[in-house]
Order: sequence, then structure tokens, then C-alpha cells
Amino acid sequence: MTDTINPTLRLPAHIRTSKPYQPGKPIEALAREIGVEPQAIVKLASNENPLGMSDAARAALIDAGAELARYPDNDCHVLLDALSRKLDVPATWLVAGNGSECVLGLAATAFLEPGRHALYAQYSFMAFVNAVQRTGAVHKVVPALEYGCDLDAILAAIDDSTALVYVANPGNPTGSFVPGDVLERFIAAVPSHIPVLLDEAYYEYLPVDDHYDSLAWVRRFPNLIVTRTFSKAYGLAGLRVGYGVAQPSLAALLNRIRPAFVVTRQAECAAAAALDDEAFLARSCAVNHAGLAQLYAGFDTLGLNYLRSRANFVLVQVGDATTANARLLRQGVIVRPVGVYGLPEWLRISVGTEEENERCLAALGAALES
Ligand SMILES: Cc1ncc(COP(=O)(O)O)c(C=O)c1O
Repeated sequence: MTDTINPTLRLPAHIRTSKPYQPGKPIEALAREIGVEPQAIVKLASNENPLGMSDAARAALIDAGAELARYPDNDCHVLLDALSRKLDVPATWLVAGNGSECVLGLAATAFLEPGRHALYAQYSFMAFVNAVQRTGAVHKVVPALEYGCDLDAILAAIDDSTALVYVANPGNPTGSFVPGDVLERFIAAVPSHIPVLLDEAYYEYLPVDDHYDSLAWVRRFPNLIVTRTFSKAYGLAGLRVGYGVAQPSLAALLNRIRPAFVVTRQAECAAAAALDDEAFLARSCAVNHAGLAQLYAGFDTLGLNYLRSRANFVLVQVGDATTANARLLRQGVIVRPVGVYGLPEWLRISVGTEEENERCLAALGAALES
């Protein structure tokens, strides 16, 4: 994809200066480059579920495949009914999107404009940055505290032009976590006319001791939007399904500006089935928990500094991450360098299966030796 824009096009400055999202390198692309079969590649770059999707989701997806000649249900009844039952919130409190990134973007579209600003922490997920950029609003980036969100500093940065606050918990790419009681006090302290989008893409992976009830906060705070996704623990990243939860007037606003038909029937049905497959979710979390421990132990053996993570990835400090990444790629291992986040010495490694983690650690050892 070219990154050069025709200079004669009349573009708003914020569109001209926007940057393309840099996704993890596709498996097929690396396989072609280094001349191996795709099956030989280990991809731990996009925080996907190494178990794939649940059998129940696959069966629902195949069933719904017969309906591809029809437009999807724009109101996503199958998915919203399933979520409504599961989360015990009325369907009118829900916003479905093609990935939770869609809902993050709807919030930016709804609340931001040039001259107003969005607040988020340093090292926040790049989709926040890109969503704000597309609106022409001002980015107000609050310095991180030990690689995590400094919520007091975010509160202190709020002023008359603040139009939206983004917080991810856990955060990507650092895996940082703010305990529920601290987060609740923060949300209560944000003036109620300023929307707060709490991104919980990795919520399902939280250890039981860290659980908190953000949906109870949605009931209390009319300015809160909680977003979640089926891309991570539910293993459906390729189908693109996520959702937001907010009080009905806020949910209705986001639904009003949502592009039509963004969630396919197939995605809706698979996601609804995935929600009910609790055994698969529990297995995914167990594999993730064991995989994090395996990666930490491997980094300890290699003498590498890393940040303990509450999500399905971990940030490890390797020195010259560009060189280390190139050497990993040559060994068929795809991870994510995070220089674009201002972390040029670090690699973000998604948790894989035991074998994938093993291969990644061995390749990392070799990459750092050579
Ligand atoms: C913090 C965070 N939020 C949201 C998302 C978006 O996920 P999706 O659009 O696949 O739901 C991601 C994906 O990596 C993420 O890391």
C-alpha cells in the first residue's frame, strides 16, 4: 500500500497528516518472503487467540453462511439479544460494531471536532490516536505513569475543551491495568458532560481477583461507554465483531451515526454462539495464563526486562527492537515492534500455544545472540 498522497488533492490538514495503521505482518506475506510454507510461521503479533474459535462459533458461522445473498440485519437482533441476556442489560443499551474499533471511532465522530480535544494516556492503543486524528480534534496525550494510565493526571488535564476521554483497561501495548476501585473513582470524578470511553478489549482475560463490574458503572454514569470485543478471548478477530454498552440515549446516538450493515449476519451468529461457549472461554483464559508464565520464565532466562501483563500479550525490552525483529522474521516468527508507540527498545509478543511460545523464545534467544 502506498503512503504517498497526491499533493494536488484538496484535503483537510488532519487527513493529510494522518498515518496508516500498521498491522502485524500477515503470515502469508512472510512465508512468501522467506520461502517457507505458511504453517511454518509463528505469528504472535496481533493479540489473537491461539486456540482459534470455539466449535460452537464455527458451527453457527457455517449455518449462517447460507444467507450471504441477503444484507445483514442492521439492528443486529441476534447478537444484541444474546448480549442482552448475557450481560443483563436491555438491548437498547448496546451498540454493535465491526470490531470494537468501530465503536471507538463512533465515539470520536459523535463528540470530537476541530478545536475540541480528546484525552488519552501516553502508550495508548493506536486506534484511539487514529480515531481522534480523523475528526481533526486536538490530541491531548497525558504522560504515562510506569507505562500505565496516570488517571490523576488525566483528571487534571480536563478543561473546557475536553470532549472525550479514552481509557483502555488493560491497556495495549503495555498490558497495564488500573484496579476497579481506582477506575471507578476516576469515572465518578470526570464531569458528567464529558464522555468516557472505557475500552475493555482484554477484559475476559483478567484474573478473577482483578474483576470489577463496569456495567454497574454504566448504570450509574450517563457519560460512560464500555467497549468489548469478540476478537481476543472469543477467537473471532477475522469476523470483526465488537460492541459498546452505554445508557440508552448515548447508545442511540452512537447507533444513529453507525454506518449501515457493519456487522454481517455470519459475524452476529458466530459471536452469539461464542458468548454461550463458556468452556471455550475458560480454556482460552487458562492457555493465556500458562502462556504468560511461560514467556515470563523464558525472558527471565534470557535476562530480559518485561512488563507483567493482564492481557494476552507482553512487552519485552530487547534493546534494538528493529534489528531483533528482523532476525525473528528471518526465523519465521512474527511479533510486533512498538517503535510507533514511542517504545523503540521493546517488542510486543502475543501469547501463543505452548509450542508457539517455545519457538518464539528460542528464536528470540538466537536473535539476541547473533
Ligand atoms: C486496546 C484495544 N482496544 C480495541 C481493540 C480493537 O479490537 P477489535 O476492533 O478487533 O474489536 C484492540 C485490538 O487490538 C485493542 O488492543
